[in-house]
Formats: sequence, structure tokens, C-alpha cells
Amino acid sequence: MLIEDLPAGLDARHPAEADHPRLLAVLDTWWGGLKGEAGSRERALLLPRLYLQHFTTTSLLVERDGREVAAFLIGFLSQTRPDTAYVHFVGVDPALHGQGVGRALYRAFFALARSRGRRYVECVTSPENTASRAFHTRLGFTPHAPKADYDGPGLGRVAFTLDLRADREPSPRPSP
Ligand SMILES: CC(C)(COP(=O)(O)OP(=O)(O)OC[C@H]1O[C@@H](n2cnc3c(N)ncnc32)[C@H](O)[C@@H]1OP(=O)(O)O)[C@@H](O)C(=O)NCCC(=O)NCCS
Repeated sequence: MLIEDLPAGLDARHPAEADHPRLLAVLDTWWGGLKGEAGSRERALLLPRLYLQHFTTTSLLVERDGREVAAFLIGFLSQTRPDTAYVHFVGVDPALHGQGVGRALYRAFFALARSRGRRYVECVTSPENTASRAFHTRLGFTPHAPKADYDGPGLGRVAFTLDLRADREPSPRPSP
């Protein structure tokens, strides 16, 4: 099994090119219209077809009952830095948030990166995406200072790095 610890009814596989329109179709719903029209265009441009052609073996797709898209992670091994793997884009159906699906996707990607000799995992997110920032920090990523115009004018980003050698499952949160 590609991912062991998914909630019942969910299964994972590597995506294929035919999944491209299915992934585009969920972006706006799942991101809740974050940053309006501009955000919508930005997200669609983050997922051109080439990712579903050339990066499938390091990417993951989770489906519900083998039909609906439930979550995805688009990742790859850095061509430039042989010690690094990169998570380009990740999303979980809002109906499934908080059930450990995002964590399970990342842990599967960490295992894959380790098996290919990678030490670091990197990713970036928008400074406005507070959920994503909290999620990555909770998973053990170290956030770097937000940088304005990182990806171009008006496209600020926060970069995150995780050292797989130091990676441990976080201890459970104390009860309130
Ligand atoms: C960010 C996202 C991937 C998290 O997925 P998820 O399946 O809900 O996350 P998990 O249930 O695996 O949570 C893992 C940890 O992150 C924490 N976390 C997740 N979402 C959080 C939030 N909104 N605020 C604070 N902490 C959060 C969880 O509490 C959990 O920590 P714990 O188990 O130690 O308590 C999901 O909210 C999502 O798809 N958001 C929209 C798309 C997006 O922003 N993608 C990332 C940018 S590309």
C-alpha cells in the first residue's frame, strides 16, 4: 500500500496525466476562494499538465471509493540539489481536514525522499495561508522569514525546510 495510515474508504496511488482536469476542478472549492480571482489564476498556474506527465512517480493522489479526488501531493526530487526533495503543491478535501490525511501524504513523501537518498524536504506557501503555515510548522518544518515578491511582483512566499535526519513524529498535544 502506498500510504498506510489513511481513514477508511480512502486509497492512494500515483497520479496519471488523465487526472489533470480532475485536480484542476477541485482547486477553487478546496482553497475557499483564497485571494479571489487572482488567487484562482495563481493556483491553476501552479498545476500545469507537465506535473502530471513528468513528476507522477514522486506525487500522490488519494481517492474516495476509487472515484472522487480526496487529496493530492505534487512533489519531486530536486534536479539541482541531490540532497533535497520538494513539495510543490498539496491539497486535502475540506470535508477531510483534521483527520491526518495531509500528514499521511507528507509522511509517505518523506519515506519516498529518504528511499532516494534525500535529506531535506522544502516547500513554500503564501504568507496569507495561515492554515498551511500552521500545518507545516506542526509537521516539523522550520519556517523562514516571509519574502515579499519571492515568486514575482505581489507573490510573496514563506519557505519551509525539514531535515529528514532530525524528523520525529511530534509528541501529542497536551490536553487543554
Ligand atoms: C493544509 C492542509 C493540507 C492540511 O491537511 P489536513 O489533512 O487537514 O492536516 P492533518 O489533519 O494531517 O493535520 C496535521 C497537523 O497539522 C495541524 N493543522 C492542520 N490544519 C491546521 C490549521 N488550519 N491550523 C492549525 N493547525 C493545523 C493539525 O492540527 C495536525 O497537528 P496535530 O496532529 O499535531 O494536532 C489542508 O488544510 C488543505 O488542503 N488546505 C488547503 C490547501 C492548502 O493550503 N495547501 C497548502 C499550500 S500549497
